[in-house]
Amino acid sequence: MPVKNKKKVAKAPTKKTTAKNVKSVGSKTKKKEGAEKKQPKYPSLLRGMKDILPKDESYWKNMYHTAESLATSYGFGYLETPIVEEASLFIRTLGKGTDVVDKEMYLFEDREGKKVCLRPEMTASIARAYVAHGMHVMPQPIKVWGYGPLFRYDRPQAGRYRQFHQFDCETIGVHDPGADAELIVVAYNFLRDLGLETVVHINSIGTQEDRSRYLVELVAYLRSKRSQLSEESKLRITKNPLRVLDSKEEQDQAIIEAAPQIIDWLSDESRNYFMKVLEYLDELEIPYLLQPRLVRGLDYYTDTVFELYPLDEEVRSQNALGGGGRYNGLIEQIGGQPTPAAGFALGLERVVLELKRLEEKKQVAIQEAIQAGNPPEAPVPTPKIFFAHLGDQASRRALSLIEKLRRDGVVVLHRIGNNSLKNQLEFANKQQVTHTVILGQKELQDGSIIIRDMASGIQEIVDQKKLKRELEKILQRFTMTEIK
Ligand code: HAM
Repeated sequence: MPVKNKKKVAKAPTKKTTAKNVKSVGSKTKKKEGAEKKQPKYPSLLRGMKDILPKDESYWKNMYHTAESLATSYGFGYLETPIVEEASLFIRTLGKGTDVVDKEMYLFEDREGKKVCLRPEMTASIARAYVAHGMHVMPQPIKVWGYGPLFRYDRPQAGRYRQFHQFDCETIGVHDPGADAELIVVAYNFLRDLGLETVVHINSIGTQEDRSRYLVELVAYLRSKRSQLSEESKLRITKNPLRVLDSKEEQDQAIIEAAPQIIDWLSDESRNYFMKVLEYLDELEIPYLLQPRLVRGLDYYTDTVFELYPLDEEVRSQNALGGGGRYNGLIEQIGGQPTPAAGFALGLERVVLELKRLEEKKQVAIQEAIQAGNPPEAPVPTPKIFFAHLGDQASRRALSLIEKLRRDGVVVLHRIGNNSLKNQLEFANKQQVTHTVILGQKELQDGSIIIRDMASGIQEIVDQKKLKRELEKILQRFTMTEIK
């Protein structure tokens, strides 16, 4: 600190300074002081990392329950792999030349000097677990799902974080278009169950051999257009030419548009396989768009590749909600027997962003309808009960009553601490409770208790012994109205 002060003194205006100078030097000093103030006193959140706060709890709980019940109903078993893995697992399978391996891995050496990393995705880890646990001897396919955090040292922006979460499903040990279609249906249904309408972008990138033949053609084409391409794409021609098709740079778009399409280089077998996947999707009425330039950002894919986008045109061009595809060579690549497999992963932060965007849109529509004199019918509120209490003695009694209610399956909210009734009712309102139970000195003496309907303000005095029954009646009444 003394050094900084010294610097400030050196910059302070001298007697010779003109009025104009004083102003400018003074404002500079002010700015610097402001900047110093901004220095956080405590370690701050790392760039690209996010806290998940209680206000978003319902999104995260809902996503987990939806994932769990869907995956279970389609016969996927839960598999959890460690967050830290040997770095070589991902470098070999995702491929050098991909953004994830070249720029985004959280790499470090552990205390024994082993090169490890925070997992950037789940597929390679699940494939490693499949090989390590000898799952190939079990009846195939092995269908597993995973859920949890991933790490990529990406440039943070909306929908792109350095720690994010995925819901992932993998079907290992079968090469059948029905398996690809089932995975797409699970991903699509997960989003639909949460309230998101999506469209599947789909393509086939064929076998390794199909791709080798195609790449000769693609590289020749890209070289002929080299001077017009962005710097990043120029580098990719030699490093990983397929990635040029992924470029978002404006100047690359016309060249990508006119590039040879991989679909024309597919073997008959891959083409037929792809057609069958599409027939399944037609049958299942899954909306899809053929995307001849979709190649995905990881090297392990073969044949089917897909991504899911919101149906809404406004955001369609932005980040995918999820993606996946077939990876028939991956298990062999990490030391297992040749084993066909396919899977997908959905990015859960992006799902939350999209749900919030839709919620905001809905609120705007409601406001517009109200202004137009056409208010929508109010939705039936979910019953929520708050327990308010006044004074030390009532507070103690309240805690024991709340505990008894809880044990009997009646959940009520309350606020710990010596708060005024006004304060507690304000809190209850903020929590959007439908009813408040009030216990004051008088009620404590005569064994009664007040139940207040928050919407109408009507209060009912009941016997404390009958509280549980009265609350159950309220909860039931609401549920019945909802069913109607
Ligand atoms: P991916 O396309 O790299 O595929 O990621 C899947 C999804 O994870 C993306 O569509 C996106 O929603 C989300 N995601 C990726 N990076 C970020 C980030 N930096 N911030 C926020 N969300 C992100 C895979 O990970 C493959 N393992 C999918 C798969 C499974 N393929 C076969 N099986």
